[in-house]
Amino acid sequence: MHPSTVPPPRRAWWKEAVVYQIYPRSFKDSNGDGIGDLKGIISKLDYIGSLGIDVVWINPVYESPNDDNGYDISDYRNIMKDFGTMDDFDALLHGLHERGIRLVMDLVVNHSSDEHEWFRQSKSSRDNPYRDFYHWWPAEKGTPPHRWSIFDVDANAWEYDPATDAYYLHYFSKKQPDLNWENPQLRREIYDMMDFWFKKGIDGFRMDVISVISKDASFPAVSETEIAEKYHGSWPEFYAKGPKVHTWLQEMRREVLDKYDIMTVAEGWGVVAEDVLKYVDAERGELDMLYHFEAMEQWHLPDDGAPHDPRFDLLRFKEIHTRWDRMFAEKGWGTVYLGNHDQARMLSRWGNDDPAYRVRSSKMLTTFILTMRGTPYYLAGDELGMASIQFDHIEDYRDIYTLNTYKRLSSQSAEAAAAYLEAQKIYGRDNSRTPFQWDGSTNAGFSTGTPWIKINPDFVSVNAERADQDPTSTLHYFRDLIRLRKAEPTLIYGAYELLDEDNPQVYAYTRSLGDEVFLILLNFSSRDARVDAGNLNLDTAKRIMGNYAEENPTRTSLRPCEAVIYRL
Ligand code: GLC
Ligand code: CA
Repeated sequence: MHPSTVPPPRRAWWKEAVVYQIYPRSFKDSNGDGIGDLKGIISKLDYIGSLGIDVVWINPVYESPNDDNGYDISDYRNIMKDFGTMDDFDALLHGLHERGIRLVMDLVVNHSSDEHEWFRQSKSSRDNPYRDFYHWWPAEKGTPPHRWSIFDVDANAWEYDPATDAYYLHYFSKKQPDLNWENPQLRREIYDMMDFWFKKGIDGFRMDVISVISKDASFPAVSETEIAEKYHGSWPEFYAKGPKVHTWLQEMRREVLDKYDIMTVAEGWGVVAEDVLKYVDAERGELDMLYHFEAMEQWHLPDDGAPHDPRFDLLRFKEIHTRWDRMFAEKGWGTVYLGNHDQARMLSRWGNDDPAYRVRSSKMLTTFILTMRGTPYYLAGDELGMASIQFDHIEDYRDIYTLNTYKRLSSQSAEAAAAYLEAQKIYGRDNSRTPFQWDGSTNAGFSTGTPWIKINPDFVSVNAERADQDPTSTLHYFRDLIRLRKAEPTLIYGAYELLDEDNPQVYAYTRSLGDEVFLILLNFSSRDARVDAGNLNLDTAKRIMGNYAEENPTRTSLRPCEAVIYRL
C-alpha cells in the first residue's frame, strides 16, 4: 500500500502552514464608512488567533483608485486611505506576530494603476525617462496586433492615448497598464519596493498574475486560431508562456527573496501542470509555491455568454487534483484551495449550500483542503460555511470583471447578457466578496454604516458568534482539523494516493508516511454513496474524525456529504 515512490520532502515552515486569506474590504469596518479596514482586522485579532492558522494573506492594501479593488496600485509604499494608515499597518503586523501568525502581502507588479506616478510620467511624452516602464505601440506603425484583455469592455488590451499618439498595453482594465519588465530600472524599483516591505518584517508575497509579466516585446500577430490550437483556446495560457518570466523570477530571487526567511506563492494564471516545476523546483531558485486554475476553471462560462453546464464532474475534479499532485512527487510543493476572492464561495460552488446540507457539506470540503498534500489556502468566511450571495440584478455587482463583461454582452445581444447574469450566480467573484458575518445584529456586525456591497441575508443564522457557541459548528470543525493536521506529519508530508478512481460520488485517498496510513473518504454528493477501498481493511481502521456524530455501521457506505478520516 505504501507508495515508496515518494520520499518525504524537506521540511519547511510554509509547507506546514495553513494560510488564511483576508479580503480587507469585507472583513471588518472600524469607522462606519461601510468599508473594511486595517483597524477592523486588528479588532478581530483574537478571533484570527483562535483559528490555529499560521499565515494571513491579505489582499492589496496599497494606495489605489480602486478600479479593481486595490489590484490597481498608485503607490506601492503607502496604505490605501480607505484602509487606514501605515501606523495601522505596523500595528496589524505586530499584532499578528505577537500571536505567532505570519503576514503575507499581495505583490501586484504585472501592472500598476494608470494613476501611478510612473504612468503619469510615461504617458506625458515619448521621451520621458519613464516612457519605457510600460508597453507602448506608436500609432504610425498601424493598429497593434490583437491582444485580449479580461476586464476591458471591448476585450481589447490596447488603449489608444492621443497625448502621444500611441497605444498602451493592459491585460486587465484600461486603468491597469502593464509594466514593462524588459526595463532594468523598473525591475530595480520593484525589487527595492519588495525590500521596503520585507524590512518592515512581512513574511512573504502572494504574487498576482506573476506568470504573465513577460511579453514578447515585438508583439507578433497572434490569431484566435493559434490560441485555440496551441493554447487550448486560452489567452492566459499564451500569456503565461512569455520568454523571460523565469529569468526574471531567478533574478528576483537573487536580488531580494534569498535575503529573507519568507514564503512566496505565485498566482499561476494560465500555467499548465507541465510547467509548474519551472516555478517551484527549489533547485531553480524561483518561488516556493504556485496555485493553479485548472480545477477552478473547468466549468467557467465562456465570456461569450454561451450556455453552460454547471454540473460538478467529480471524476474530472479528482483527475486534475491527482495529476497536479503527481507533479510534486519528487520536487517542488503544491497548494490546495477551493475558493478565494476571484471565485464563488466554495460551499456553493463545490458543495451544497441548501440549509439542510450546509454544515455537513462545508465540513466535508474543509476536510478535503486540510487533508490533501500541499499548503492549504482558506478564504475567511469559509469556516462559517458562508455561501455565494447570487445577485439577481447587475446593479448589485461591484466587480469590474462582471460589470464590463455584462456591458460588452449587452451591446451584442440581450440573451447573451441575461445568460451571463444567470451564470454569474455560480461564478461571479462578488459572491465571495460579501462582508464577513460576525453576528446576527445589523449588517452582520460588519459595519455600522452602509456596506460597500450587500451582505448575504443568511447572516442571521450563519455567523461567527453563533458558530463559536455551537460545538458542532463548521468553525469548531475547522479548528479541530487544523489541530489534527499539525499533530500528524503524515497529513502534511505523507504521499497521496487516489482510491476508487471511477466513483462519481466519492473522493477517496490515502496519505501515508513510513508505517502511518490515513484514509480519507469524502462523499461529494448529497445522496448515500458506496466506496470501494480496494484491499484496505476498514474494519480494523480507527475513525479519527468525521462530520457525522455517530459512526457509520457499514464503513463502505457513506451518508450524504459525509467526510471521514481513518487511521489504518
Ligand atoms: C488577480 C487577482 C484579481 C485581480 C487580477 C488583476 O487575478 O487575484 O483579483 O483582479 O489579478 O490584478
Ligand atoms: Ca472603514
